[in-house]
Amino acid sequence: MIAPAVLQAEDLKRDYAVRRGPFRAAATVHALAGVSFTLAAGRTLAIVGESGCGKSTLARLLTMVEPPSAGRLRVDGHDVAQTQASGSNAERRALRRAVQIVFQNPYGSLNPRQTVGAALAEPLQVNGMRDAAEREHRARTMLQRVGLRDEHFGRYPHMFSGGQRQRIAIARALMLQPRVLVLDEPVSALDVSIRAQVLNLLAELQDAFGVAYAFISHDLSVVRHVADEVAVMYLGRIVEQAPRDVLFEAPQHPYTQALLSATPTVDRAARRQRIVLKGELPSPLRPPAGCPFHTRCPEAVERCRAERPALRPIPDEPARTVACWLRPG
Ligand SMILES: Nc1ncnc2c1ncn2[C@@H]1O[C@H](COP(=O)(O)OP(=O)(O)OP(=O)(O)O)[C@@H](O)[C@H]1O
Ligand SMILES: [Mg+2]
Repeated sequence: MIAPAVLQAEDLKRDYAVRRGPFRAAATVHALAGVSFTLAAGRTLAIVGESGCGKSTLARLLTMVEPPSAGRLRVDGHDVAQTQASGSNAERRALRRAVQIVFQNPYGSLNPRQTVGAALAEPLQVNGMRDAAEREHRARTMLQRVGLRDEHFGRYPHMFSGGQRQRIAIARALMLQPRVLVLDEPVSALDVSIRAQVLNLLAELQDAFGVAYAFISHDLSVVRHVADEVAVMYLGRIVEQAPRDVLFEAPQHPYTQALLSATPTVDRAARRQRIVLKGELPSPLRPPAGCPFHTRCPEAVERCRAERPALRPIPDEPARTVACWLRPG
């Protein structure tokens, strides 16, 4: 059975106007230049790419903190822009509850003057749950679900380790039973020894609650542990998307191949040569014409400099899409 889609991104774009000094005209950063994907209920889509490729911008759009400049987002089949413009209060609230976020640094999302118990109960209160005893009961239950103890309930965020604080942030994000958690580099700030524990916890919680994850990371070795599907981003666009094993076994896009070759622990075909990319990541203020990757691509030909390849399925591999002129499509 195919799980229903909980999150559908259709050509999402996000531009920012940036000033480059008092005497220069404002410029436009194309932080997100057209991203489409479908996230199925209870599954994990990992979104990987270098710093600045637009991952956090995408996270802000998915969590409805910012509207897209163009494109459409659907949550549980509901058009977000439409619901926000003309839905009932209850529909808008349901939409906000459906997608929650966990950041890299839980300090940013936890109020230092609020006990853990209060932090977990707060979303319930904001959502209209009047019964304080019931709020406390649910908060204590969730605290245990994420591997913390009952006596932690009355403590403050600074009294916890980084891994424990991330557990608290995850617990808080789950209090309203969301359909989707957007996890923006959720383990990148943690010690390697703690990382696996938090990743295991996320897997357990997904099984228990059926929540889907949009898992954002620059780290392929982490992605390989958690993802069902992987989308690789470059300069605001997805350049390859595939089921995890397919992507790690046989990456197609030259950029994906370079990323994988730079992460030897995940490169199953360890024979593969390390591909060193030339040049720097271009500025999203002035993305290259043609294929955005052509300036660094070891295989680029004339056509790559002139025309941008669309993301398209590979023949006989409908689950995989690649944006490259040099691959069959
Ligand atoms: N509010 C903003 N105003 C102007 N430019 C922005 C804004 N937010 C993001 N950008 C630009 O958009 C691009 C994408 O940024 P984003 O934070 O989404 O990247 P990222 O993939 O999350 O990077 P990192 O891995 O470093 O977190 C960057 O060039 C960034 O400078
Ligand atoms: Mg980011």
